[in-house]
Amino acid sequence: PLPEPFTVPLPIPEVARPVSPGRYEVTQRVAAVEILPGLRTEVWGYGGAFPGPTFELRRGTPVTITVRNELPVPTSTHLHGGVTPPDSDGYPTDLVVPAGHSSHHSHPGEVLHPVTKDYRYPVEQRAATLWYHDHRMDFTAPQVWRGLAGMALVRDDEEDALPLPGGERELPLMICDRSFDEDGSFRYPDGGHHGGAALDAEYLEGVEGDVILVNGAPWPVAEVSATRHRLRLLNASNARRYRLRLSPGGRFTQIGSDSGLLAAPVAHDELPISPGERYDVVVDFSAYPVGTAVTLVNTLADGPAGNVMRFVVTSRGRDDSAVPPVLSRPPDRPRPVATRTFDFRRTDDAWTINGLRYRPGAPLARPRLGTAEVWRLTGDFHHPVHVHLAHFQVLARNGRPPAATDAGWKDTVDVRPYEVVDVLARFDGHRGLYMLHCHNLEHEDMAMMADFEVI
Ligand code: C2O
Ligand code: CU
Repeated sequence: PLPEPFTVPLPIPEVARPVSPGRYEVTQRVAAVEILPGLRTEVWGYGGAFPGPTFELRRGTPVTITVRNELPVPTSTHLHGGVTPPDSDGYPTDLVVPAGHSSHHSHPGEVLHPVTKDYRYPVEQRAATLWYHDHRMDFTAPQVWRGLAGMALVRDDEEDALPLPGGERELPLMICDRSFDEDGSFRYPDGGHHGGAALDAEYLEGVEGDVILVNGAPWPVAEVSATRHRLRLLNASNARRYRLRLSPGGRFTQIGSDSGLLAAPVAHDELPISPGERYDVVVDFSAYPVGTAVTLVNTLADGPAGNVMRFVVTSRGRDDSAVPPVLSRPPDRPRPVATRTFDFRRTDDAWTINGLRYRPGAPLARPRLGTAEVWRLTGDFHHPVHVHLAHFQVLARNGRPPAATDAGWKDTVDVRPYEVVDVLARFDGHRGLYMLHCHNLEHEDMAMMADFEVI
């Protein structure tokens, strides 16, 4: 029995507390949590929580996060959107192996860390909405489904100087879908074998759930005052895309994209969001009379997946916040030194890039540190393409100007079926081996990933 929508209060994930300045420890463990009212769900969570704790990071203040693995499976943690050295970037064969797990190597080049690993993040990057999740070779989809994901917010002085709504009026919203068995356990269709390879052909296009969770709660409700609120929207679903709207009407004022603040705000009636993407938006609830129920809906689905969550405007409120006409000075668009094409396509029974299944350590491109390149992305299906390390701007879709929702610096872009999307990517920060891949996690596990090496 699914819960009545809009009855469970919106949870806000705990903020991670450092053990000493710049140092965090987080244990990945099995926990039983109440997601569906009255039932227990076993999750694999960072800190035993789903979502995991939110990391509050500050530009210029490096942090080390020690991940301890007490799960029954190996893991690899990726900070999505992070400008991270390669040995801390969550490479899929760079694994933290739990105690007692037989540490046989199953992939060439695999690195096995017993029980813990220190991930070092320099945090030399603009304020942005990041997130972190598991990235284990072949098993990312089932391990994220079971709970291994959380948010990380980078802040900086440029953003602090703005009068944006904050504190309780800034809500991280991790949106994802899940299915459940009668007893409340997560249902992932791999027959308990865990992994993309174990999926039936009917799930080749990806696994979708019939329950929409926000911050781990089914179709939650949040009471808000009639003031501006900042919503950090993240699509953390394995495969589901959403087109978000406010009902009965209303606007999202977008202030940021995947990789930080826009130069100037952009108003939208609806926001298409594919797996891995983020939007940083402000919604002004003073546009509604007190007592209004404002529902965040998904116009790509009918039925239960057509609802996401609800805000109820409960009172008037004092509001000193504003969305200024100039938000930031994002880095200028550099001049590209090369153009490359990456074709995301189903070949035989695998999802491939340029006809190739993922092979760790065999880079398809070697961009130079400090340069920019045009990457032409195309494919046969909806493929949300994510590039590690490099941030990019969408230059064109099918040779035409990009959509208003493509604005700003990004790290993930939805490449629609048979579309050609040109992005301008800059390779800054670190040399080494990184990945680009489809962020439909089932596609990713079914080999739709490639290495590139920054030289
Ligand atoms: Cu969010 Cu390579 O992943
Ligand atoms: Cu894909």
